[in-house]
Amino acid sequence: MHPLESLFNPQSVAVIGASHHEGKIGNIVVHNIIVSGYKGKIYLINPKGGKILGLPVYKSIDDIPSVDVAVIVVPAKIAVEMADKVASKAKYIIVITSGFSEIGNIDMEQKLVESARKHGSRILGPNVFGIFSSKAPINATFGPAEIKKGNIGVISQSGALGIAMIGKAAEDNLGLSAIVSIGNKADLSEVEILSYLFQDELTKVIFMYIEGLENGHEFMEIVKKKPEEKKIIALKAGRSRAGARAVASHTGSLAGSDEIFDAAFRQAGILRADSLEDAFNWVATIAASPPPKGENVVIITNGGGLGVIAADACEKYGLKLYDDMEMLQKIFEDVMPEFGSYKNPVDLTGQAGAREYELALRRAFENDAIHAILALYCERGDAELESLMNTLIRVHKEYEGKKPALYALFGGEGTTKIVTEMKKDRIPAFYEVEDAVSSLHVLYKAYEKREEEEIEDIEMDDDAIRKIIDAAINEGRSRLLSHEAKEILLHAGLDVPPFRLAGNIDEAIEYANEIGYPVAMKVVSEDIIHKTDVGGVVLNVENDEEAIDAYELIMKNCHMHARRARIEGIEITKMLPPGTETIVGATTDASFGKVLMFGLGGIYVEVLKDVSFRIAPISKKEAEKMVREIDSYPILAGIRGEKRKDINAIIDSIYRIGILVNKFGEISELDINPLIVYEKGAKVVDARIMIKVKK
Ligand code: ACO
Repeated sequence: MHPLESLFNPQSVAVIGASHHEGKIGNIVVHNIIVSGYKGKIYLINPKGGKILGLPVYKSIDDIPSVDVAVIVVPAKIAVEMADKVASKAKYIIVITSGFSEIGNIDMEQKLVESARKHGSRILGPNVFGIFSSKAPINATFGPAEIKKGNIGVISQSGALGIAMIGKAAEDNLGLSAIVSIGNKADLSEVEILSYLFQDELTKVIFMYIEGLENGHEFMEIVKKKPEEKKIIALKAGRSRAGARAVASHTGSLAGSDEIFDAAFRQAGILRADSLEDAFNWVATIAASPPPKGENVVIITNGGGLGVIAADACEKYGLKLYDDMEMLQKIFEDVMPEFGSYKNPVDLTGQAGAREYELALRRAFENDAIHAILALYCERGDAELESLMNTLIRVHKEYEGKKPALYALFGGEGTTKIVTEMKKDRIPAFYEVEDAVSSLHVLYKAYEKREEEEIEDIEMDDDAIRKIIDAAINEGRSRLLSHEAKEILLHAGLDVPPFRLAGNIDEAIEYANEIGYPVAMKVVSEDIIHKTDVGGVVLNVENDEEAIDAYELIMKNCHMHARRARIEGIEITKMLPPGTETIVGATTDASFGKVLMFGLGGIYVEVLKDVSFRIAPISKKEAEKMVREIDSYPILAGIRGEKRKDINAIIDSIYRIGILVNKFGEISELDINPLIVYEKGAKVVDARIMIKVKK
């Protein structure tokens, strides 16, 4: 039995602060519990005693036996005073009361948690609207009394929005398996609620409204355990970039919290909606549709224009229109007039009514080469809308569960009524073509096969890496010097061209000869972040004479532009031939931990912002997805006669960085910029590593 079973399916409930006054929250909760058909024991607590809604009222919590759930609806101060007693009686305490950490009363909230911990009970909230669970059934919320049962589980961080969602779900006739408000998350968070819903046989789709996640790491861990057949749609508020952070790397400055959420959701197979409307459309579609058995989509329409709009949208979302003309002709030939078109979109033409739609839909449902149906209808003045509506609903119901079929009806009052009626019958119907196509796209995405690939540990010289990090920590340095960063990458198995740190001109010449001209010469100083800006870099050094000039020039420039900088020496590296400049990086997110980034553009990365992120560590498959995800991927894949770049070498570099930063938690930020990619191989040109030094 899941530990939260008693919260979702309680045998007994107490309401602390049950109110005698109609309209007050403490009265609504009692009313909702009663009308939800709850079959367990209900104990109402109010010092005034008497009766509320026909139930006896206990004057003190001392008068009742232990319960599975206690709902607190007394003001915050009283809630804190009573917390200890309530916790001694209840396994789960739902604190509806507001006035805690959300307005800065952190200590009061802490006291609630301490009381619960003392007695081994758990808290949902505070600052929540309650819980509805269709299993019990119980509606212990102060939202609408009527909640339809179904297969959608909702977790909402916002109380007000959660209540509004109940209303919206009722309007769209969406049935809920549960709706839980998590509020301030003083104790129970979305992680545990998710783990319950994953094993709850009543839940098929989970909709989450998230504002922030404090425990991104745990969240990722639990989502990995999501059963394949359950789907999650999330709406994450706050797309705006997090305020400027003090970061020393390109990766850090590009990894805003929203980009990280996006990456985490993508990685976890969570479908992210941008608006409540999209979220509801998607949830309704997944809740009501079987998984598609193949990629062939057929559009059936009575208007060419609507068909073209849908076909364009299908292309945008990467949906495949069935294009076997011979088969299409065979399937639809006798359904349409001579001037119709059986090409996909299948155009039944403007004269099509209920009869033609019925025939066409039957053909599409019955033919196994067609895997999903998009049926569109453009309102025409003389149509028999009533009969069309009845036909669409009847035919859909007859074939329900056979294959996904989504409908978009465009027009005035008549089509609006049809859509509304279809929704009432839990048929995925829409007012806009784009909404229908985007929902079908999400349905396909939801059932995309997710290949789990093991993250294998790879050989790295851990001891050598540890030594470099420890030395810097002991010296209190958070920024590793260039050669130290490169040594770490070398030990991690990346391809780092030869480099040496020269302390004087003689060494510079010796090392340049050892490495082989042409070389690049770069100043190494903990105090100089942007070497080029101070004139600390000379490229294409061809011989000893140029090496001497370069050495002197760099020293002069640094003395001039970075007078106080402590200079460790000059790094001599092999001058690399031109290739495609990419960036591979890592940063640390307060919630999700280590985050990886890949992008194109090298030094222009912050202008182009063509980057992808993932939470580390990742599998090679996921690293490959990161590479393919950027807009300029075709440049890597080879365009205009150019050869394909060594994408496997990039994948290997990202994979290794993922393992490196995960293994060595002290690495807080890392940039390989650029990582130059060739037809064969990918080489580290510049590297920057920041480590966390405990103060
Ligand atoms: N034990 C039990 N009952 C008590 C006790 C006690 N020790 N002391 C008082 N009561 C009773 C009161 O007598 C009253 O009953 P009555 O109406 O029969 O007289 C009842 O408990 C409630 O107490 P009130 O003082 O009347 O409190 P009120 O109902 O005004 O407010 C509430 C309590 C609703 C919890 C309020 O403090 C609050 O937090 N409101 C906001 C709730 C909220 O919005 N939560 C977030 C949801 S999400 C969203 O944003 C929508």
